[in-house]
Amino acid sequence: MRIGPLTIDRVKISLLVALVCITTLPILSEQWIWYSLLCCSALLGIYALWKKAWVDVWLIMIIIASFVFARVRFPETEGTVVMLRTAAILATFFLNVTLLIGPWTRFVKRMRPFYKYRRHVGVTAFLMALTHATLVLSYYFEFSPEAAYASAFVFFGSTSLFIMTWMALTSWDYVQKKVKPLWWSVLHTLLLAGYIGYIAMFMNYVLDLETWHKVVLGIFVVFWLLVSPWALPKKILRRVNGWKQLHVLIYIAYASVIIHIWTGTLKFEDILWLKIVFWAFFALVVGSHVSGLLFMLRQFVKRKKASGETLQLNGKTYYNIGSAAEFPDGKGRRVDANGFSVAIFKHNGKLFGMSTICPHQGGPIAEGCIVNGYVECPWHRYQFSVDTGSGPPGFKDCIPYYEVVEQNGAAYVCVESTGSCGLK
Ligand code: HEM
Repeated sequence: MRIGPLTIDRVKISLLVALVCITTLPILSEQWIWYSLLCCSALLGIYALWKKAWVDVWLIMIIIASFVFARVRFPETEGTVVMLRTAAILATFFLNVTLLIGPWTRFVKRMRPFYKYRRHVGVTAFLMALTHATLVLSYYFEFSPEAAYASAFVFFGSTSLFIMTWMALTSWDYVQKKVKPLWWSVLHTLLLAGYIGYIAMFMNYVLDLETWHKVVLGIFVVFWLLVSPWALPKKILRRVNGWKQLHVLIYIAYASVIIHIWTGTLKFEDILWLKIVFWAFFALVVGSHVSGLLFMLRQFVKRKKASGETLQLNGKTYYNIGSAAEFPDGKGRRVDANGFSVAIFKHNGKLFGMSTICPHQGGPIAEGCIVNGYVECPWHRYQFSVDTGSGPPGFKDCIPYYEVVEQNGAAYVCVESTGSCGLK
């Protein structure tokens, strides 16, 4: 739908409806809270069904089923409490799933299609966390910061929501496409300054602050500094772009949620199976991420070792990537050249290379194909010219582009980018 210069798509409408519904919950009476939440969810579900957005349909069905189950299972507990607790559990579940999708799509090839839905699950986690926090702040604390921040566990819960809010906002396509690297750095820095100010302001309210809380907060700030765009690791990990740099803060959000739930409620509970499920999820998330890191390191070392024959041309080094005839026309193939991954394509008999990572959402360019003279990312159909790596006329997208030469039937790629992106 287009209104003047503004394009309104399904995602924007759905998010707007969800946000209006969540933020008006505190002004409704207990009975209306339930009607409002279930009606909004049902409406969004029907809309997603109409638009054939199957993943969103599933997510909404899980949400509705969980709320209905909780209400029926705990008829004695006050409705608002049931709702805020169910939203909390759903938020935690979706946050765990979001974090698991990344590493598991690396380990199991059949899971790759799920990678592109990570954002949907992440934003759903945020919406559930917002529902929980809105109800908690209004129902338990009447929006009084002194009352809310009296306990350290609430402080950790709100840290998590703070980060999740920024991640949800910046996972929007429009922002990721339009915001320039400099502005990501500015945003990152402002958020860090804002968080430090937030700690300084609310720490005075916390009555049960212990030394380990302060140590954890210190670790958060150090981590934030390390992943900031102007920090040394960023200079080493050159391929990490703006929004991804910001989204690394998910680890602080996750650690905060774990502390929030354990110290706030779970450690006082008698239900052993619940504690086991909680820590099992945590172990799975941490284990998967450590394994994912080791997996990437192994791949890197393997690629480094595999660097073979080279060719010197015009002062540049070209690395052998096999027989030129073996590359299919119109389709991509991922190769390793001196420890560097490149997506190789053949168009009208000519070979060229591109970055394996789509600048839009990190999609697997090598799994794409050529459409009308443009390499098309399989995830969201972002296109890049076969001659320069630039987007179609009118679009400012570009992807690092690499030259490939042929000699005696063998193909060689130079890993210094030459296209319009100008990146290495
Ligand atoms: C401003 C942000 C937040 C505030 C003020 C807050 C506050 C609270 C409070 C007061 C409780 C105890 C509820 C009770 O015993 O009835 C609680 C529990 C909980 N919170 Fe939060 N929270 C926040 C953010 C989050 C976030 C972001 C998550 C997850 C992503 C989360 C997950 C949970 C869970 C799972 C529980 C335990 C629910 C249960 O007892 O069944 N919270 N929170």
